[in-house]
Amino acid sequence: MSDEKGANAEQAEFWSGPAGAKWIAGEALQDHTLSEVAAELLALAAPQPGERVLDIGCGTGAVTIRAAEAVGDGGRVLATDIAPPFLARVATRAAHLPQVGTFLGDAQVADWPEDGFDLSVSRFGVMFFSDPAAAFRNIGRALRPGGRVVFAAWSRTEDNPYWQIPREAIDAMFGPQPRPEPNAPGPMGLADKDWALAQMRAGGLTQVACETRDIPILHDGGAAGASALALKIGPGARALADAGAGEDEVEAFRAELERRLLPFETGGSLRLPSSVHLFTARRG
Ligand SMILES: C[S@@+](CC[C@H](N)C(=O)[O-])C[C@H]1O[C@@H](n2cnc3c(N)ncnc32)[C@H](O)[C@@H]1O
Repeated sequence: MSDEKGANAEQAEFWSGPAGAKWIAGEALQDHTLSEVAAELLALAAPQPGERVLDIGCGTGAVTIRAAEAVGDGGRVLATDIAPPFLARVATRAAHLPQVGTFLGDAQVADWPEDGFDLSVSRFGVMFFSDPAAAFRNIGRALRPGGRVVFAAWSRTEDNPYWQIPREAIDAMFGPQPRPEPNAPGPMGLADKDWALAQMRAGGLTQVACETRDIPILHDGGAAGASALALKIGPGARALADAGAGEDEVEAFRAELERRLLPFETGGSLRLPSSVHLFTARRG
């Protein structure tokens, strides 16, 4: 599936464009929204002082920074992403952490500037590969033998209120929208965990396993705040773009989403169930 511009050129373009800019603008809110996922991912990965960690699809670096704090200044975290604006943001955010470096590249084909990593982590950065097995093989190349892999990826939309509720709101407003092809690159690219595990094995990783957890998605601004954020980032934004919604429709969608999210609000804060696969493996 590669072409002359690169195996994942569409993803590079997508994340370097308005979608990435909105993600950066909403960074603080988004970091809180996904903070429990970062916590569970890193509890499982357990980066140790002095270890060397590769963060795949690092975005604005929420996981990078937590990992860097865990490994300390005797360790190393290389934050890697396909989209330059994210790496500029990580460099600024992690300026006080000398153990953090950044690397621009497509994890599927990158010629890594460093290797021998003890651990590779990713929060929602590994579902976008045109050839996941090739990507997992390339990530494995960056690890030392026995090095650990811990990746978070969304489970199926139907099992995932964080994704299903916006989809239902969109379908209610615009009629049933086309569903993505199974296993196609995108947020649900590794939702079929058996397929994903087979890709990891095909990429030469060993001891592959997956645990699916309900990890709460949070918003301090309650249903109103979450529905406003959803217009910019995540499932709502993607659904609106796919539906080609105009300005009035966007506001109508926000109001509809807020109404559907209200049952998950307590004391002004939102706590929405989700379904996240936590994949673990080792380089053999
Ligand atoms: C959903 S965001 C997650 C960002 C970050 N890990 C977080 O949890 O906040 C997906 C990230 O994966 C990156 N990405 C997509 N395809 C990639 C590839 N082939 N190689 C490296 N990064 C990629 C995107 O640029 C984006 O930063």
